[in-house]
Amino acid sequence: MTSGTVVLCLVSLAVLHEIHGLDNGLALTPPMGWLAWQRYRCITDCDTYPDECVSEKLFKNAADLLVSEGYAEVGYQYLIVDDCWLSHNRSADGKLQADEKRFPSGIKALSDYVHAKGLKFGLYQDWGKKTCAGYPGVLGSEELDVKTFAEWEVDYVKLDGCYSNVRDMDKGYVEFSQHLNKTGRPMVFSCSWPAYQEDKGMLVNYTALAKYCNLWRNSGDIDDSWSSVMDIADYFALKQEFWAQYAGPGHWNDPDMLVIGNFGLTVDQSKVQMSIWAILAAPLLMSNKLSDVRPEFKEILQNKEVIRINQDALGIQGKRVFRDKRIDIWLRPVEPVHLGHYSYAVAFVSRRSDGAPFAYRISLADLGMNSSNGYTITNLFEKNKSPYNNAYFTQKSFLRVRVNPSGVVFLRVNASPINPDIDRDNANNATNNVVFI
Ligand SMILES: *[C@@H]1O[C@H](CO)[C@@H](O)[C@H](O)[C@H]1NC(C)=O
Ligand SMILES: *[C@@H]1O[C@H](CO)[C@@H](O)[C@H](O)[C@H]1NC(C)=O
Ligand SMILES: *[C@@H]1O[C@H](CO)[C@@H](O)[C@H](O)[C@H]1NC(C)=O
Ligand SMILES: *[C@@H]1O[C@H](CO)[C@@H](O)[C@H](O)[C@H]1NC(C)=O
Repeated sequence: MTSGTVVLCLVSLAVLHEIHGLDNGLALTPPMGWLAWQRYRCITDCDTYPDECVSEKLFKNAADLLVSEGYAEVGYQYLIVDDCWLSHNRSADGKLQADEKRFPSGIKALSDYVHAKGLKFGLYQDWGKKTCAGYPGVLGSEELDVKTFAEWEVDYVKLDGCYSNVRDMDKGYVEFSQHLNKTGRPMVFSCSWPAYQEDKGMLVNYTALAKYCNLWRNSGDIDDSWSSVMDIADYFALKQEFWAQYAGPGHWNDPDMLVIGNFGLTVDQSKVQMSIWAILAAPLLMSNKLSDVRPEFKEILQNKEVIRINQDALGIQGKRVFRDKRIDIWLRPVEPVHLGHYSYAVAFVSRRSDGAPFAYRISLADLGMNSSNGYTITNLFEKNKSPYNNAYFTQKSFLRVRVNPSGVVFLRVNASPINPDIDRDNANNATNNVVFI
C-alpha cells in the first residue's frame, strides 16, 4: 500500500453515519468488568473443584478481588455470571431459579453482595428453549424473566442464542429489549444474535442492533490463545468498513473477552490484545482467575492510559489502516480534538517471529496526522523508556519504533492546541526529528 492509501482509509474514520443508539443511558463508554465463561466454562462439580465451580462462592470471591486487587478502581465494574448458574427446573410459579446446591443463597443475595462492594451485577440467559449448556432458556417466558431480573436488581443481561431460530432472532431480541425497557430498570443489554447470523452467512441488521442493544457479539467465542486473539482481530479488520460505523456511546461491537492473565498469551501478546481492544472501543471484560494473575499481566490490565484510550468519550471505533512487512498499524481517533484535528491512538502490531525487535519507520503525515500545530507523543506501555515522551513533533516527524515479535508498540499522539507557549522556531526545527522508541 502507498501512503496515499493510508490517508484514504483515515478519511473514512471520520465519516460517521447517524446511528440511533439504545436509549437507556447505559454503556456510554464500553462496559468494563469480569465475565466467567472463558476461564470457568461450565464446571459444576463443586466436590472435585470447590474453587472453580460455577457457584456463589466463585462470584463472591471474584467480586472481592475486583475491589481488593485494584481492578474496580480503574473501571472494571461489572461482575457477570455466564451459563450454568440455573437449576434445570423453573419454580412452581414458572420463575427461573439458580441451582440450589451451588447458589444456596439465591441470585438476589448474590446481587446484593456485588452491589455492597460498589460493583454492578450481570447475568446470562439465552433467547431459546435452552441455554447453550442445556439449562432453561427464556423463550416463551420473556416477560416473566425480565421481571425476575429486575426484582433481582440485575444491571446487565447477556442474552445468548443457542436452541433458537436464527432467522427470527432480530425480532426476538428486539422484543426482549422492549420487555427490558418496560421493567423500568436500566439494564445493559448484550446481544449475541449477529454472531449466530454472521455464522450462517446472513445479512445482519446492525441498525437494529445499535437501536436495541448496548453491545453485541459479532463473532464466535474467543479462546485462550494467540491465534484466537489474532483471528478475531483479523475478522474485525476484514469487516471494519461496515461494522465500525455502528459503534458509539451506548452501542458497541464486541470482539469477546480479554484472556489476559491466563495460560495462552505471553506478556507481549497480552499487550497486543489490550491495545487492539482499546483501538476497537471494545468492552473490556476479563475472564481470568483474579487471585492468580501475575503482576506483569495485572499491570497490562490496569494500564490507565490504555484504558483511557478504550474509554475515550468520542466513542469512535478505530481500524487497521496499514499492513507492511508483517507490521499491522491500527489507528483510533480520540480526544483531544484541536482545530478539527483528532488525537490518535496508534498501535504497531508485529505478526513477525524473527528474533530481534523489528525496526519500523513512518512519518506522522503518512499516517494522516497533518495538524500544523504539531503533536505530542506518549509511549503507553513504556512510559519511562522513551526520552521523547511529551516532546513536540510536526507532521514531518518520523515515528521510529521497534516492535517485539508478536508484540506491540502502542502510542498516544495528541494534537497540540493553539498555544502561544509553543515556540514556533523550535517547532520548525523539530521538523525532521525522528522518534526512537
Ligand atoms: C425437574 O422437572 C422434571 C419434570 O419436568 C422432573 O422429572 C424432575 O424430577 C425435576 N427435577 C428436580 C430437581 O426437581
Ligand atoms: C425506555 O425507553 C425510553 C424511550 O427510548 C427511554 O427514555 C427510557 O430511558 C428507557 N428506560 C429504560 C429503563 O431503559
Ligand atoms: C433493520 O432495523 C431497523 C430498525 O429496527 C428497521 O427500521 C429496518 O426495517 C430493518 N431492516 C431490515 C432490512 O429488516
Ligand atoms: C490533512 O489530512 C486530511 C485527511 O487526512 C485532509 O482532509 C486535510 O486536507 C489535510 N490538511 C492539510 C493541511 O494537509
